[in-house]
Amino acid sequence: MKKILLSGIKPTGRPHIGNYFGAMRQFVELQNEYECFFFIPDYHALTTVQNSEELKQNTLDVAIDYLAIGLDPEKVLLYKQSDIPEHAELAWIFDCLVTVPYLERAHAYKDAVAKKKEASVGLFNYPVLMAADILLYDTDVVPVGADQKQHVEIARDIAEKFNRIYGETFKLPNAHIMKEVAVVPGIDGQKMSKSYGNTIPLFAEDSDIEKLAMSIVTDSSGGVPKNVYEIHKLFRSEKELEKLYEEKAGKYKDLKEALIADMKNFIAPLRAKRATIAGDTGAVLKVLKDGGERTRALAQTKMDLVREKIGVKLY
Ligand code: ADP
Ligand code: TRP
Repeated sequence: MKKILLSGIKPTGRPHIGNYFGAMRQFVELQNEYECFFFIPDYHALTTVQNSEELKQNTLDVAIDYLAIGLDPEKVLLYKQSDIPEHAELAWIFDCLVTVPYLERAHAYKDAVAKKKEASVGLFNYPVLMAADILLYDTDVVPVGADQKQHVEIARDIAEKFNRIYGETFKLPNAHIMKEVAVVPGIDGQKMSKSYGNTIPLFAEDSDIEKLAMSIVTDSSGGVPKNVYEIHKLFRSEKELEKLYEEKAGKYKDLKEALIADMKNFIAPLRAKRATIAGDTGAVLKVLKDGGERTRALAQTKMDLVREKIGVKLY
């Protein structure tokens, strides 16, 4: 029996090369080893995206991205959260077990409070819905970036508490912190992130790759432009790079051009594959819908048990 793995990518914007090397590529490698659930947490996205057209487009885009990077819907379950109302139902049941002071310690909520933002109840409850996403399917491992580790720990705590009160029901999941790709810097040298507007998109056009790579900030001190090198090493072995960066020490333009050539070679086939998939939206939607139906059947079985355990199943 293969172990169960589950993860999700929120439909809140376009993926960048940091997301790809930090997370998405590893999903593709893991799909052969585990029984996999990859989904699109569209209800989580509601905490930030409140425009229906945008949410629809983003969701379709993530589905296309999943397929373009090589997730195989014959092997894995691919679905969107909102197709399975049991996620929200289970989250409510968990809400009644989790205390307010406990959730007040969650990073995302604490950050919002620290920035004096008025947090929505949805943002406050975010980790509870995420726990439901994970626990519904008896997940063993959740591959996530280090920033999501706390959320998986919250899911474990909730599973333990439920099991203590109602008897053994949920498996305790473990976070699988993805192989440390050192944080990929953005073109401004900070961590590459959608929220900093400093990304190189994963499916960028050649002209954008050129423009963005040329604008990577270089420090003027050493001969090796650190940010250029850090990005370059995602596309070429460090052994080859050392030679190149030694030969071209100080020649930032040449080094950026070498990076551009390598990025173009890497991105072009991915972009082409994505364009082909995007050309048949009907087929993508069908994958998502079928995945939702297959996954929902599993969720319903588990919820049946949960309803019995808590005492709402009378017939
Ligand atoms: P963003 O900061 O762009 O919004 P997310 O927080 O949605 O990215 O992260 C999605 C996944 O990609 C996570 O697993 C995260 O660890 C990974 N990731 C995001 N940015 C980077 C980066 N600059 N370097 C490495 N991994 C990253
Ligand atoms: N919170 C995750 C993120 O922002 C997305 C997510 C929602 C998720 N539910 C999940 C990830 C369940 C793993 C498992 O990246």
